[in-house]
This record gives sequence, C-alpha cells and structure tokens, in this order.
Amino acid sequence: MGRIVIIGPPGAGKGTQAKLLSALAGVPHISTGDMLREAIAAGTKLGQQAQKLMDRGQLVPDDVMIGIVDQRLQAPDATGGFILDGFPRTVAQAEALDKMLARRGVPLTVALRFVVPEEDLVVRLTGRRVCRSCGAMFHVLDGGPARAGRCDRCGGALYQRADDEESTIRHRMEVFEKQTAPLREYYERAGILREVDGFGTRDEVFARVKAAAA
Ligand code: AP5
Repeated sequence: MGRIVIIGPPGAGKGTQAKLLSALAGVPHISTGDMLREAIAAGTKLGQQAQKLMDRGQLVPDDVMIGIVDQRLQAPDATGGFILDGFPRTVAQAEALDKMLARRGVPLTVALRFVVPEEDLVVRLTGRRVCRSCGAMFHVLDGGPARAGRCDRCGGALYQRADDEESTIRHRMEVFEKQTAPLREYYERAGILREVDGFGTRDEVFARVKAAAA
C-alpha cells in the first residue's frame, strides 16, 4: 500500500484509522504522538522536554521531531512502507520528510487529510480514555469499558490524556490551523493529496480511507 501520511486536526481519527490500515497493509503504524508519550513514560530527556509542550498543546520543535522520524524510518520494518500518523505537522517537517525519502529513492505515495467538524472533535477528545498498557482507546459515550477504569482488552488501567482537557483541545486546534493546515496546499501541489470525510462510524470512515489509499 506504500508510504502514507495522515494529517488532520486533533481527534480526527488519525490513530484509529492508521491502526486499521496498518493491520490491513502489513506496514508499521508510526505515531509521533505515541513515540513522545513512550519517551515521557520512560522518563528520558526527550520525554521531559516534550511533556511540558504537549501538556500545553504546543508542538515539539521541528529538528527534534525530524531526527526521531528519520531514525524510525531506517528500521527494517519500515522499508516496505509505513503509515505516518501525526508527522509531518509543519511545512518544514514535510520538506524534511521529502528529503529523507528522496535519499532512499522512495517518495510518499499518498497524503490523507481527514476532515471532521470542530464540535465533533471536542466530543471525541473529551470522552477519550486510553489504556496505559496496550494503548486501546475507549469513549465514554460508547458505554465505556465493561469494568470502570479498566481496559476490556488487557485489563490495564485507563487514563485521560493531559492534553484532552477542553481548553487545551481548543488550543491544539488553533495550533493545527496555524502550523499544520498549510500542508493541504503542500501536498495538493505535489499531486498526492486525498481528502477523507472523517465523520461517521469507524467502519464507514475506514471504507473511505481504503478507497483513498488504494
Ligand atoms: P498526537 O498524539 O498526534 O495528537 P493529535 O494529533 O492531537 O491527535 P489525537 O491523537 O488527539 O487524535 P487522532 O486524530 O489520532 O484521533 P483518535 O484516533 O485518537 O500528538 C500529541 C502531541 O504530541 C501534539 O500536540 C504535539 O505536542 C506532539 N507532537 C506529536 N507529533 C508531533 C510532530 N510531528 N511535531 C511536533 N509535535 C508533535 O480518535 C480520537 C477519539 O475519537 C478517540 O476516543 C476515538 O475512539 C474516537 N473516534 C475515532 N474515530 C471515530 C469515529 N469515526 N466516530 C466517533 N469517534 C471516533
């Protein structure tokens, strides 16, 4: 299925759909947000630097993110393709990604851009709960997990992301509009942009994602 990037505002379903696509295509799901949260959990220097910015809904500096992704894309599992979720997030990151891939002679195949109304994003994010052990996601409006506070899949503890508080969500959306929205034009010019209506059930959206990524 190739080398795919998914861009879209916070809560647009990038992680949800990237996991499904990764399972279908047999290529890794590379989420820069997940990588940063792992660094925070491990207490590394990167994690300490990232946490302050992420909790405020701000972006981690481009040079840091570009270094992380460059290294990750060199791993053997990424040679046959990948699904990048949350990177690039600025034009500088997109240009750096193009250079990394040009060095390897393997350009991006497609850039999927998810579109979801803002008020739906707020509902999705304020109700999101994540398993600390396996990363599974739940939503309080879906009836939540069978056992309160525990993951249905592995029994791990569920938590609410620090950046899923409403005022931080609104700030993340402003950051998206200012810094990430210009990627629409960037990938349109490159001729690889595909817009995906992210409103609907996960299965409905996944059907659109598969068609757009094919
Ligand atoms: P990151 O983790 O990438 O957060 P985000 O982009 O804000 O996106 P989210 O993970 O919140 O949402 P999503 O679109 O993946 O939606 P999801 O599938 O989870 O980044 C966090 C922070 O890290 C950034 O703010 C920044 O500080 C830093 N960072 C990361 N990458 C960086 C970079 N490249 N440069 C600089 N800084 C970077 O779904 C959301 C909810 O909706 C879930 O509850 C889910 O169950 C539910 N849901 C999903 N699909 C549907 C549906 N179809 N219908 C109803 N509910 C749905």
